Amino acid sequence: MPLAITPLTPHIGARLTGIDASRPITPAEVAAVEAGMDRYAVLVLPGQDITDEQQLAFTRNFGPLEEGANSTVRNTELRLAPAFADVSNLDRDGAVLARDNRRRMASLGNRLWHSDASFRAVPARYSILSGRIVTTAGGNTEFADMRAAYDALDARTKAEVEDLVCEHSLIYSRQQLGFSEFLPDERVSMRPVLQRLVRTHPVTGRKSLFLSAHIGAVVGWPRPEAMAFIRDLIEHATQPDFVYVHRWTQHDLVIWDNRTTMHRVRRFDDLSIVRDVRRTTTRSDGPTVAQEAA
Ligand code: OGA
Ligand code: MN
Repeated sequence: MPLAITPLTPHIGARLTGIDASRPITPAEVAAVEAGMDRYAVLVLPGQDITDEQQLAFTRNFGPLEEGANSTVRNTELRLAPAFADVSNLDRDGAVLARDNRRRMASLGNRLWHSDASFRAVPARYSILSGRIVTTAGGNTEFADMRAAYDALDARTKAEVEDLVCEHSLIYSRQQLGFSEFLPDERVSMRPVLQRLVRTHPVTGRKSLFLSAHIGAVVGWPRPEAMAFIRDLIEHATQPDFVYVHRWTQHDLVIWDNRTTMHRVRRFDDLSIVRDVRRTTTRSDGPTVAQEAA
């Protein structure tokens, strides 16, 4: 099958056809996906009707798996294998999560602009999200281009952010939504990690802003000043020009580079409509700042 790639916006996102993610792919196909990702940061592969095993095998082409994404859920309550982030609104038995369900509360954090696993010392590289059951009334996923956002900063702001380091933690993003019930062991496992605010892409050399809802402090700055600044940067970085809005079709497989994008899911009627989307994730090369692995 010939590969074809069609840009979806001037900056970010492209549609990639000609790859079958249900079968082993060739090194040339892996390289083509990576080249597409380096250019567009988000790729949409339509018509990928895959099993969990096929999704895992496809994901392993793009680096070591990030496991244990369901940090608030005990293993016995998982619907999917632990290598998956279950971003559906379903419990183990396939029923829609109740309004006050703990996992539902935590996953509401996905409505805030974020980069996956930015709260880990070694944050995520690619996220691969498979649309098994999708919604059309709400539930879009939006992606913002952090390279375009960096490029559009004025010279003064570029100089100001160049060497800044932020603290990221799941506690910070959840606190923004008023979620404050953390178990003592969660407070330990969610200890903030440090990340550079400006990253340089290892292949393209392009700089990007490493922003995320998980940021709760800028090292060396008073907290309120830091948070006001981060809000300004997030507002700048998510202006419509830099955003691709993905409207889901069943069996879309969407890949994004967490090093160069932020994303968020939009609201839908999750108490009555089923949305079954399953994410696998790979890890990036290493910490963005020299630090002890958390
Ligand atoms: C994710 C996420 C968005 C969505 O999988 O990391 O934020 O559309 N999901 O469910
Ligand atoms: Mn996410």
